[in-house]
Amino acid sequence: MFQDDFVWGVASSAYQVEGTDAEDGRGRTVWDKFVEEGNIYENQNARTSCDHMHRYKSDYALMRNLGIKAYRFSINWARILPEGTGPVNEKAIAMYRDMILTMKKNGITPYLTMFHWEFPQALQEKGGWLNEDVVEWFGEYAKVVAENFSDICENFITINEPQCVVGLGHLRGAQAPGLKLSVPETFQIAHNLLKAHGKAVINLRKYAKQEIKVGFAPTGGVAYPYTDSKEDIGAAKKVYFGFYNPMDNWTWNISWFSDPVFLGHYPKEGLEKFKEYLPVITKEDMELIHQPLDFMGQNIYNGYYVRAGKDGEPEFVDRAPGFPRTANNWPITPRAFYYGIKFLTERYPLPLYITENGMACHDTVGSDGRVHDTDRINFLDSYIGAMQKAYEEGANIKGYFLWTFLDNFEWTEGYKDRFGIVYVDFQTQRRIVKDSALWYQKVMETNGESLSMNQTTKEILFLNPVCTHNIWGGTRLREDFGYPVEGNDLGECWGISAHPNGDGTLRDCSYQGWKLSELWEKHPEIFGNVESDRFPLLIKIIDAKDDLSIQVHPNDAYAKEHENGSLGKMECWYILDCKENATIVIGHNAKTKEELRQMIEEGRWSDFIREVPIKKGDFLQIDPGTVHAIKGGTLILETQQNSDITYRVYDYDRLSNGKPRELHIEKSIDVITVPAKSVADSVKSAENLPVNQLNELYACQYYHVYKMEVSGSMSFEQDKPFFNMTVTEGDGIVNGQPVKKGDHFILPNGFGTVELQGEMQIIASTI
Ligand code: BGC
Repeated sequence: MFQDDFVWGVASSAYQVEGTDAEDGRGRTVWDKFVEEGNIYENQNARTSCDHMHRYKSDYALMRNLGIKAYRFSINWARILPEGTGPVNEKAIAMYRDMILTMKKNGITPYLTMFHWEFPQALQEKGGWLNEDVVEWFGEYAKVVAENFSDICENFITINEPQCVVGLGHLRGAQAPGLKLSVPETFQIAHNLLKAHGKAVINLRKYAKQEIKVGFAPTGGVAYPYTDSKEDIGAAKKVYFGFYNPMDNWTWNISWFSDPVFLGHYPKEGLEKFKEYLPVITKEDMELIHQPLDFMGQNIYNGYYVRAGKDGEPEFVDRAPGFPRTANNWPITPRAFYYGIKFLTERYPLPLYITENGMACHDTVGSDGRVHDTDRINFLDSYIGAMQKAYEEGANIKGYFLWTFLDNFEWTEGYKDRFGIVYVDFQTQRRIVKDSALWYQKVMETNGESLSMNQTTKEILFLNPVCTHNIWGGTRLREDFGYPVEGNDLGECWGISAHPNGDGTLRDCSYQGWKLSELWEKHPEIFGNVESDRFPLLIKIIDAKDDLSIQVHPNDAYAKEHENGSLGKMECWYILDCKENATIVIGHNAKTKEELRQMIEEGRWSDFIREVPIKKGDFLQIDPGTVHAIKGGTLILETQQNSDITYRVYDYDRLSNGKPRELHIEKSIDVITVPAKSVADSVKSAENLPVNQLNELYACQYYHVYKMEVSGSMSFEQDKPFFNMTVTEGDGIVNGQPVKKGDHFILPNGFGTVELQGEMQIIASTI
């Protein structure tokens, strides 16, 4: 979980939410002009937007009610200084002061961004960012900001996303002021912007009325490793801090903007690569840019895969078809968030605040009048979870500002994509709290504890079984159950097993690829924190094409002493299929230990062995000490203790690889129960049980075993520490997951209601 003083907030920007009014005295910005020139989706504009300038009181009350304690907002340079420099618009000062005071009254800490893209048009006409005077212009603005707001606000951010200002605004012309300048001009702009940042930091501190904290908020997609291998991580880092974009897109990088500000120099690789385009860069410039800062901001939304190529050089990897995306088509990449945070905090010495992160959705209001934005919740849950992981691994991260509070004017996309956790009806200005806002409220309140990564999983845990080859095995595990295994000697499928001799692998869930034993060890809560040093059960399907040896199992005490601490083996069988007139060996006919020894030593097997008739649907309980053997042609679902200890008494004198298999006569005689339990106590029919309910077949200290015949639909409460299930016939749906014959899965602790549909038979177990 996060540290107690972790800052949870929301972010926005002035132009996107404020709106305007005829009397506000503001000056024009490059965005006003760009919008008027018809560059926006459906010709929309930000004249009203969320009308936040008239509604901030109720907006901050809503924030308070949602438990939001920090707000990153921006102020409009041209609202404060209509000409960019010179006379101050007192109405703007009064409005922003009142906004800040109202935030504080509502218990919200302000984080003020000076520049979130509204460059004053008057200064644009004097050359804008290309004119080196911009350093002084921005410095003057910083002085006004410090003089007017630093008594009531302690946290300042100079510039939002320089990459966009330079790249989208001046290189590609995709955003205001919509220019397509030459590459050298854009390097001049970037350099001026960084110097303006430095000058602003100096003036903010110089004119501040109290000690303030200052940061910077760049952005950039994260190059993140395709796999977690050392090589791929190295390759991703190299791209993240390197320069792999073509020159008409050069601004999309991290280090050209962050190295000078946080480290005091341009990156060597960039100086080399860009040398023909660069302006004069002096030592004084670098000192100006490299002002002491209190924190580093970073806006992160997504990333792209990189791996180490054959020659060790980074290689870009395409996303798989159907890769998840947001409404504005950005990929959903929580791992990129994790790696971005790791890489940034490794390279730069300042504490990190995520100054923006969030998701665009095409939200709609439901018939209940609410906005159920589950996609956004899933997005945030995975991203904030990824941030927690980075934090717990030592990343120096101090805060998170969700983009954004209100649906708003999304620049050139107008109102098409909604980024808010509060829905805005732009016709009426009505606000509706989306589900994600209530969800985020919980996260903030619990300092992250409510994130699903801190909860026991509610997912169905599917397993890939392990099949074994045995001299008596056949082909039904492949042919009837569909397990992709070669050979005509497939004896056992260890369907739910954490035993080292056949540890199952999780599939189709968040623990994909984990071994069951690993999950048991690392996440005991998934199994109800049961006190046991290993997953206690083992579920098998056994296909006996030929007879199995006559055998017996020890109990816990005997196994512990003689088998290296192993568990004993209590087990039971459900007969899935068998031949007509089939039999099975269970028990023996010796009356005393003496007689038992004699029968075994003299090989009087027909006297010794007790063979009983069985049919499909029978259930047999086999206590430790019970002589038993499955006969050829029988297919069985076995539920047993997690143990692989078997003592072979007799193997029909068969050879395996030319040699008889080992017998364990002395241990067998030690553990065989004399006299054997009665047949009636060992075999019962489990056919024709009521459909659509849990039918308990057996209960003992080690396991409870159930049979279900689903026909249509049924449900039950999973209130056990965990619940194993194997579909033995048919197919259906379990809580939205299609399942079929041969599927093995575990329902974790706290799973709740299990909803089953279809036509299928399931054998289930728990402890
Ligand atoms: C900007 C925001 C914008 C958000 C979503 C960031 O690049 O700072 O103003 O709304 O991304 O596109």
